[in-house]
Amino acid sequence: MVTNSDQKPTVAILGCGYVGLTTAAILANCGYKVYALEPLADRLSIIQSGKSFFYEAGIDALITEGLKREALVVTDSYESAVREADIIFCCMGTPDNPDGSSNLTYVFDAVRRIAPLIKPSAIFVQKSTVPVGTGDEIRSAFKAADVDVAYVSNPEFLREGTAILDTLWADRIVVGSDDSEAAAAVLDVYRDIEASQKAVAQTAGLSQPNHSATTRYMAMGQNAAELVKVSANAFLALKISFANSIAKLADETQADITEVMDAVGADKRIGRAFLNAGRGYGGGCFPKDVSGLIRSAESYGVKLDIMHAVETLNDSMPDYIIDKVAATTSIEHKKIAVLGLAFKSGTSDTRRSPAIAIANALVSRGADVIAYDPQALHEAKSDLEPAITLATSLEQAVKEAELLFVATDWPEFTQLDFQSLAKLSTARLVVDCMNCLDPATVRASGFDYIGVGRS
Ligand code: UDX
Repeated sequence: MVTNSDQKPTVAILGCGYVGLTTAAILANCGYKVYALEPLADRLSIIQSGKSFFYEAGIDALITEGLKREALVVTDSYESAVREADIIFCCMGTPDNPDGSSNLTYVFDAVRRIAPLIKPSAIFVQKSTVPVGTGDEIRSAFKAADVDVAYVSNPEFLREGTAILDTLWADRIVVGSDDSEAAAAVLDVYRDIEASQKAVAQTAGLSQPNHSATTRYMAMGQNAAELVKVSANAFLALKISFANSIAKLADETQADITEVMDAVGADKRIGRAFLNAGRGYGGGCFPKDVSGLIRSAESYGVKLDIMHAVETLNDSMPDYIIDKVAATTSIEHKKIAVLGLAFKSGTSDTRRSPAIAIANALVSRGADVIAYDPQALHEAKSDLEPAITLATSLEQAVKEAELLFVATDWPEFTQLDFQSLAKLSTARLVVDCMNCLDPATVRASGFDYIGVGRS
């Protein structure tokens, strides 16, 4: 490993998904030479042209700058990526298998391919979300290939939509390893990121977040670090499903769930974050991390009934909302505009999006659905029922609609001028699937309003 103070270690990033590309783009703007590996040809050519293949605020500027300075090299060659690397960040995808367990094919394939290429004493950093115990298996695989490599588990906490700022102003950096020198070298990389945070944010064209406390650096055992990531995501998913359970009770008791959770979350021991009731969680992490944790725990003989309940509750939310609407007006043959398809605002990602589940469920109940999203139309297409019409503008979506479902909290919808909308659209009912609108404003503009847990 290169450790002298005037030369930073050379970094390889395996996999240019949300985590890998964000990490590569940022490190290339923090003085590191970064080799980023992307095996998929279509993604590779987009990144090499200076852009991301997904929408994420600020990332294109960082990729362009990294390429311009020749600090970032994007390649599909394992040899070019790994040959000179002192630190290798594994950011390969870990999708779920049909039984909910984590599919580690891409991770182990990468390990197999880099083993003959890796520099002696390089550090392998695991950023992919993997079940506890995977680190031991990877270390055995390197050992079997007679490769001397230090292993550091380094769970990732960035959120899509705020990926750059989350990385620059991280709450905490966690490393887990039995090699304290390797763990310290990885922490140093993150200290460099923290030291460059303002300059990198400026290059990305992003403003500093309001809450920008200093980062906590936490070193621990390898298995503990592996458990941190899945436990953190599982707990956040649990908070959301808890809020949604109480939202159902609020609906029955004419209480307002946002008032309830504002007060519950004001307790510092609980906290207000991730208590927003609505159509449930989606995306590339929570659904697969929850099911992966359940399966991983089962493999150790531990039953996580609490997480089964979280999943069941989450899956119930799209139909719960539609049933609530159907109790006041018929859905069949109605022209319905679904506004928002991404799993949340700020991203074009539609994986496991509850907004798509809502659009498809409306079609299966006989509605005539037109859908619109400011960023995610292209990515949503293959998951939507063929009968759904895609609108290329908000105006087109709402014009002839009889019901409006706001299914993703894009500012384009939350900051809508509902007085103008009332003139544009024939609809008179707004269904707020994420409780992201102000009911009073919507009602004052002549619409009826239905939210989740907001009777
Ligand atoms: C999540 C974790 O937050 C992040 O730390 C981890 O690295 C990856 O997984 P992400 O999937 O990008 O990040 O999105 P997040 O902002 O956490 O939202 C996940 C889902 O939960 C979204 O569908 C969102 O709409 C939903 N959500 C969030 C709620 O329904 N209610 C809430 O109160 C918060």
